[in-house]
Amino acid sequence: MSKKLIAEPVANYIYAKVLRGVDYFKAQVLAKEGASAAPSLATILVGDDPGSSIYVRKKGQMSTSLGFHHSDIKLPANTPQAKLIQTIIKLNNDSSIDGILVQKPLPSQIDERTIFDLIDPAKDVDCFSPRNVGLLTQGRGALLPCTPAGIVEMLNFYEINPSGKKCLILGRSEIVGKPLALLLLAMNATITVAHSKTQNLAAEVESADLIFAAIGKAHFLSSKYKFKKDAYIFDVGINRVAEKKVVGDVDFDAVFPLVQGITPVPGGVGPMTIAMLMLNTLKASMLRRKIEFPPGF
Ligand code: GUN
Repeated sequence: MSKKLIAEPVANYIYAKVLRGVDYFKAQVLAKEGASAAPSLATILVGDDPGSSIYVRKKGQMSTSLGFHHSDIKLPANTPQAKLIQTIIKLNNDSSIDGILVQKPLPSQIDERTIFDLIDPAKDVDCFSPRNVGLLTQGRGALLPCTPAGIVEMLNFYEINPSGKKCLILGRSEIVGKPLALLLLAMNATITVAHSKTQNLAAEVESADLIFAAIGKAHFLSSKYKFKKDAYIFDVGINRVAEKKVVGDVDFDAVFPLVQGITPVPGGVGPMTIAMLMLNTLKASMLRRKIEFPPGF
């Protein structure tokens, strides 16, 4: 019997942890500084892409519902790079800000690498900065990349142990594929990262125990592939195929009966990204104030 692996109970577990952590944080700040403070997240949206606007709004709403402070910075689509740089420097130097999130993608006049290199690693709640990626490769990252770390939480929750298993990652993006490979490697998995130049993908798919699809191609993995019948598939794809319809990289209905479990789209991996962003913001606020994490963090 195949299993639908949904994010909701896993995200709720993370939110319960964050809420406990916020109480702990507030008590610690009060005891140490005699002042009240809450974790604070600044989001920056450049332009008015409808998808990005929805994501940033959700990130802001979730922050406030958890008791964080949220600074909502919106800049026009024609913002020059120098203006965005100035905005980030100001947030880096603002001691009341714990986390900085610049929503991707950025308009073409802005060089993303320049922007993400500039964010103070202590406030880099996306884990995009070279320092945090470097720490991640050494297995000592404190702020972990949100979507990959969310997938790890799902593996733990659903008791799917990747140790010794053949894990196939489809896609080598900086945001999912590459950092996910590092997190799974740290869990003793054997990793293959497939991409557009990979030869004989069908053989890779057929021999994989766990498949993570993150290529952004609607229904790319279909029943034309053969799967191990006890394989699990995590679908990171969010592909808009109509105004109100989003589908994953996996043709869920066709592949579901062929494997042991799949995350649906929507409702599978997606909600974990915001949950882990909230956890990172809380962690960043504790690390900056040298507050030790409570047990279980
Ligand atoms: N755009 C799509 N996903 C993300 C994300 O996780 N972080 C940021 N900053 N931008 C995104």
